[in-house]
Amino acid sequence: MSVKIIRTKDYDEMSLRVAELLAAEIRAKEAPVLGLATGSTPVGAYCKLIEWNKAGELDFSGVTTVNLDEYKGLDGDNDQSYRYFMNTNLFDHVNIDKTRTHVPDGTIEDPEQACREYDEIIAATGGVDIQLLGMGHNGHIAFNEPSDAFSEGTCCVRLTESTIEANKRFFDSADQVPRYAYTMGIGSIMAARKIVIAVSGSDKAEAVKKAFTGPVTPWVPASILQEHPDCTLVADEAALSLL
Ligand code: F6R
Repeated sequence: MSVKIIRTKDYDEMSLRVAELLAAEIRAKEAPVLGLATGSTPVGAYCKLIEWNKAGELDFSGVTTVNLDEYKGLDGDNDQSYRYFMNTNLFDHVNIDKTRTHVPDGTIEDPEQACREYDEIIAATGGVDIQLLGMGHNGHIAFNEPSDAFSEGTCCVRLTESTIEANKRFFDSADQVPRYAYTMGIGSIMAARKIVIAVSGSDKAEAVKKAFTGPVTPWVPASILQEHPDCTLVADEAALSLL
């Protein structure tokens, strides 16, 4: 297995390690392109980045970002949208130029147009230097759910019941979780020069085991990361407990 593993004691240490990897990339390049994720996993790392930015130790002025995904039908002012999440958990608190922060546009009705436009945005950045990922309980990365083939570019996906179930905690009820999302494809994720996947908690241990020690299969989307030349798994002891 070529995936590097950074084992941490707990969520807080995982967050620190992830933030250090992102910060190193930001410091190393004049115009770094970060691929970012939403969800519970990266929140602690974003807090660290904000802390270092406020302390004058980390400059976001040259940074461009592309996010993995967005719910179809939600606009950026909707507090359940991933654009809103990124603004409130990171962008509003650092000196980043918001016009260089990109999230798929959930308000575009036509999936073909939405996906084409997002692929053009990703291409115009010149490519992602470091892509941060979380992982779903079913091994999904971004909203690429288990299926019989790996996706290429941005696509419109129907969320699985397990993902709707997992994400309903952010909504008033499961009924309110949008059924469709726009997501970066597996091909686009794999094109990133570096990948960091962060995983925390014993509830993800089975998925970690399947993704990183099992066969590479689109039925466990994260398993494709075994084929990436520079992928680091940052996970706490609980998430690594079955490895
Ligand atoms: C979020 C994303 C998802 C999450 C995954 C884990 O942009 O693409 O794949 O990374 O569902 O979510 P959490 O971190 O909430 O467990």
